[in-house]
Amino acid sequence: MSRRFLFVLGSARREGNTELLARRAAEQLPADVEQRWIDLADHPLPDFEDLRHDSDHVRPREGNVALLLDATLAATDIVIASPLYWYSVSSLTKRYLDYWSGWLRTPGLDFKAAMAGRTLWGVAALAHPEQEVADPLVGTLNNSAAYLGMRFGGVLLGNGSKPGDVLRDDEALSRAKTFFAQEAPLARFPYEV
Ligand SMILES: Cc1cc2nc3c(=O)[nH]c(=O)nc-3n(C[C@H](O)[C@H](O)[C@H](O)COP(=O)(O)O)c2cc1C
Repeated sequence: MSRRFLFVLGSARREGNTELLARRAAEQLPADVEQRWIDLADHPLPDFEDLRHDSDHVRPREGNVALLLDATLAATDIVIASPLYWYSVSSLTKRYLDYWSGWLRTPGLDFKAAMAGRTLWGVAALAHPEQEVADPLVGTLNNSAAYLGMRFGGVLLGNGSKPGDVLRDDEALSRAKTFFAQEAPLARFPYEV
């Protein structure tokens, strides 16, 4: 099956470091790999409402929720491109992930079965020089992938504060060259490893 990458941009500003780094990594994808880029700031999701146990809960058919759901279901690989905000994912990104919880319980979707075996990746820019501070973001993505039976390709981290800074992080740019070529094993919760 040919691969289809969905890049979900979660920064609260345009053309920031996270997107720059994600685009550098994406440049290395083979030409036959489809790429779709969705900026969550351009497609704002309404406040997430927990309707999981509401019998009237139906599949969204229009608007940004439907757009993101359809794009998510169509992708073999989902790239969460979120800056590090308070050591975790941005609120735009978190809201998108919250919607996954709703989709897991939407009748007729079988979201969990649909996502199983697909691959989750992360790209994140952070201002802090020590990358360990991004462990909560990495854990969020790893555990989410484990919960859904997905593969996890890890998180490409780059350093920078103002837009463009990450282009001076030579190590990150070098990691970007091979990031998507890496093996992405089935994700495991830390207690399973
Ligand atoms: C709301 C907010 C929270 C942030 N929290 C952190 C943080 O916890 N750790 C860190 O290293 N940088 C933090 N930063 C800095 C950003 O991660 C950094 O500027 C990054 O380059 C932004 O990525 P972007 O250009 O893709 O938006 C924060 C920035 C904002 C706006």
